[in-house]
Amino acid sequence: MRLGIDLGTTRTLVAAALDGRYALASFDDQGEFKDHLPGIVARDPASGELCHGWAAARALAAGAPDSLRSLKRAISGLGPDDLVPGLGASALELYTGFLRQLRADLFERSTLELPADDGPLEAMIAVPANASSRQRYLTLEAFHRAGFRVLGMVNEPTAAAIEFAHNHLGGLGKRSPKRYVVVYDLGGGTFDTSAVSLDGRSFELIASEGIGRLGGDDFDDALLDAALAEAGLTRASLAPGALAAAQELARAAKEGLRPTTRRVLVDLGAALPGAPAVTLATADVYARCAPLIERSITLTEQLFARLAERGIDPEDGRQLGGLYLVGGAVAFPPVAQALRARFGRKLQLAPQPHAATAVGLAVAADPAAGLLVREAVTRHFGVWREGDAGRDKVFDAILGKDTLGGAAGPITVRRVYHPEHTIGHLRFLECGGLGAGGQPARDLTPWAEIRFPYDPALLGRDLGGLPVERSSALAGEEIAETYTYQPGGMVAVEIANLTRGYARTYQLGQLT
Ligand SMILES: Nc1ncnc2c1ncn2[C@@H]1O[C@H](COP(=O)(O)OP(=O)(O)OP(=O)(O)O)[C@@H](O)[C@H]1O
Ligand SMILES: [Mg+2]
Repeated sequence: MRLGIDLGTTRTLVAAALDGRYALASFDDQGEFKDHLPGIVARDPASGELCHGWAAARALAAGAPDSLRSLKRAISGLGPDDLVPGLGASALELYTGFLRQLRADLFERSTLELPADDGPLEAMIAVPANASSRQRYLTLEAFHRAGFRVLGMVNEPTAAAIEFAHNHLGGLGKRSPKRYVVVYDLGGGTFDTSAVSLDGRSFELIASEGIGRLGGDDFDDALLDAALAEAGLTRASLAPGALAAAQELARAAKEGLRPTTRRVLVDLGAALPGAPAVTLATADVYARCAPLIERSITLTEQLFARLAERGIDPEDGRQLGGLYLVGGAVAFPPVAQALRARFGRKLQLAPQPHAATAVGLAVAADPAAGLLVREAVTRHFGVWREGDAGRDKVFDAILGKDTLGGAAGPITVRRVYHPEHTIGHLRFLECGGLGAGGQPARDLTPWAEIRFPYDPALLGRDLGGLPVERSSALAGEEIAETYTYQPGGMVAVEIANLTRGYARTYQLGQLT
């Protein structure tokens, strides 16, 4: 049985491909069936062991001091071996532990009738479109270690677009004209908006924008802060473990809000012993959330503008299938309202907004569906260089996002220049966007740092301990940097002193 697994910040859902049908798994949690596993990890105060999913949700609600909600958000900025504060385990260990629990739950207490043998489970998985290469690596590695065979990893909005096409375009095989859909995915932890082209059975993610830390968790915090202020409390005054429990309480209150709700009662005492129950005006909570919602809408508008630049008319209903709303947080009343005010008739709400990604992944995992998925790079990659005298570091964007790799072979980018320093100290990084003056913006992740001897006198020396000095004597030398981006995403650079005839090649990493 092939699975689609949407490893979410708040909810992890699993869909299975069963003879052309795509069914969501439910999990038996002490006699109650749940359609997801919560993204929670806690240290059980009794046993001292880490627990995950529903067991962790109970430990957290009971005030376990070492507990973490939104594991995916907590690890999103970390490297695999970085310790997650408070839990004494690395990001990779925690993610692997969570996925081992998922695997055990699938075999032992899910509605999927998996064969008793406990070999690797075959799954299609996804990451937010704006995820860094490091987060992609960590996710893939954790799935491997937890006993899954990963059939492929795509961007979450691409999976949602596949679900859209499956539901709305009446079968994927028809020869219909090429169409586009823009996905707006507001989950628990992340926001992504992406344009995907649908051409028969072939899907191509062509452009995306996103914010690594924007989602329902931030609305929970807004509601909690309003409630704490009303009760005369501050976050700083909460006991360890109490914050996570209070955030879960805020989430439950938030999920109960309807467009007509004017006031909401938050019984803080249920998470914070001795704290009062308070009543909040929803208008105050929504006002705290408005700037966040606005940021997501601004990015979506930027994406539409980029579609127009490519000659795609977002106002033409035959070209654009709509703005497809997925992710649980699109049900939050001020989000739905702001989207309706801005995009009106373009909106298409997914039938099950929080399940679209998992179902799309199951379709993609199904060989019978015969899909072809191609995705553009979703992040910028570039290098910080020394500026001219007195100037700050200068950012040089080597590979822009939306670059489509593919079967055509490697993409090559070359820079030729005359050095002004003795050593080339190059610091590589990736980021989600470029701000004013082409500076890297949003969700920066550092890559390798390398040092290359521009000055032939330094050949063979350990450059790490040497200062980078300005030198006009080298102005006659010619340096060439040649970057190659392989179809699989590997980026390498060869740096050569063309004048003197020496060169070095560095493997920099994988850009996906
Ligand atoms: N009825 C509702 N009203 C408001 N918010 C809701 C509602 N239902 C779910 N949510 C919120 O949606 C978010 C979860 O959405 P979803 O399951 O799509 O996210 P996820 O996949 O876990 O996270 P991500 O995609 O960011 O990793 C949570 O913040 C949850 O509180
Ligand atoms: Mg999601």
